[in-house]
Amino acid sequence: MDNRPQWGTRLGFILAAVGSAVGLGNIWRFPAVAYENGGGAFFLPYLFALLTAGIPLLIMEFTIGHKYRGSAPLSLSRVSKGKEWIGWWQVAISFVIATYYAVIVAWAMSYSVFSFGQKWGDDTGGFLMGEYLNRIDLAGGEIGQFGSIVPGVFIPLVIVWVVALGVLFAGVKRGIEMANRIMIPTLLVLFLIIVVRAITLDGAAEGLNAFFTPDWSKITDGKVWVAAYGQIFFSLSIAFAIMITYSSYLPKKSDVTNNAFITGFANSSFELLAGIGVFSILGFMAVSQGMGVDEVVSAGVGLAFVVFPQIINELPAFNGFFGFLFFGSLVLAGLTSLISIVETFVAGVQEKFNISRTKSVALGGGLAALISLVFATQGGLFFLDTADYFINNFGVALAGLIEVVAIAWFAKELKNLQSHADGISDIKLGMWWRLSLGVITPVVLGYMMFDNLRQNLTSEYEGYPREFIFNWGWTVAIGAILIGALFAIKKWNTAKVEVKSSKEVSH
Ligand code: ALA
Repeated sequence: MDNRPQWGTRLGFILAAVGSAVGLGNIWRFPAVAYENGGGAFFLPYLFALLTAGIPLLIMEFTIGHKYRGSAPLSLSRVSKGKEWIGWWQVAISFVIATYYAVIVAWAMSYSVFSFGQKWGDDTGGFLMGEYLNRIDLAGGEIGQFGSIVPGVFIPLVIVWVVALGVLFAGVKRGIEMANRIMIPTLLVLFLIIVVRAITLDGAAEGLNAFFTPDWSKITDGKVWVAAYGQIFFSLSIAFAIMITYSSYLPKKSDVTNNAFITGFANSSFELLAGIGVFSILGFMAVSQGMGVDEVVSAGVGLAFVVFPQIINELPAFNGFFGFLFFGSLVLAGLTSLISIVETFVAGVQEKFNISRTKSVALGGGLAALISLVFATQGGLFFLDTADYFINNFGVALAGLIEVVAIAWFAKELKNLQSHADGISDIKLGMWWRLSLGVITPVVLGYMMFDNLRQNLTSEYEGYPREFIFNWGWTVAIGAILIGALFAIKKWNTAKVEVKSSKEVSH
């Protein structure tokens, strides 16, 4: 028996996994992605991606973590020789994501305070870019320069890191599990209040119509399918090294398949709920301004930090309170995901370098916190946007593809994993699971990567300068692969890899 930390209860694990999955991606990313990609017609590719890639991969990651009982690099090195680098690559991706994800949570924290009294005024776009972020190009500089650190972002950012690292210092059970036990139910309550209020606003029906009315012409567009896979991966925290790490803390008797279904469906339900809430509110805004819903929708930063403040201004009553609920939800959803993202490198470094958890949190978390300051500068928004785009497209999605191919095709491990999962789970995995991972996901995702690569090599993302895209997009994405390879070069203490590599170890 090793002295690996363990979740206290099954519910604790599920809450932590759901806490990781439900994040900024559900609340601000999903509604706009769904709308842009055909509204109601997006649900078909979305469901396809969920059932053939999302849940099968989640089951695979849970099973790997449970069977090999290590962080992603250690577990993958135990699967078979030469796979460890994929684990480190995913850890490096998580490291990059942590550095900017924390900054978005920090903005949400500021905005939850600004809600009282609607500090953003009438020109919410101008407030965000000018007064709040003091964006470099508006302050006389240009894209690619840092400028100075923005105090209004720096202060909440420090709070975000103190909370996240504080939870991680406290450990798996007393820290991560406890935090999720408090934050996830709270998030659910806050969000339900928002959704109930949203669907009872005038104009909600118009918003929901826009969201759910299918635009079937989009269904044959490859980009729509790409978007569905991208959303599922980001949203379920797949290929982030997270789910392998989290499931490595499960006790021996754990129904991994059922846990994966619960996590996957809970995440998608929350996503749908967010879509309903957000579009009801957008419908209200559109009707009250005499515009079409399509004129008020915008993605990401624009939706949460420009459009929502406008809507909060126009609510008939309790404006500050609802603003606080909305941005408070973003903070909670973001914090539980951030904690899981940081746990990947905390666990990986701790195991590889044989150091204490405290040291690993201080080193790994401290470094991520330090680097996150880049995104808290006046030029930060541009770095953030570019790093986010590239690390998702050529990090998360690509690492997911390589992970599946490595496990299914090279290590030929699907049958072994299936018998491990079936041995401990009520639901038995059938052909569906092996077919999804062995054929459908590699083929569809492979095509998606190829198409995406072609588009990005032939045009500049957002029209940013080429050198800027190279430095902050490609270098970050390719850098993560190189760092992965570099960490894999250092040898494990052999006892560590071998002890657990016997197939029957976790039966
Ligand atoms: N799964 C997390 C999210 O949706 C990363 O934000």
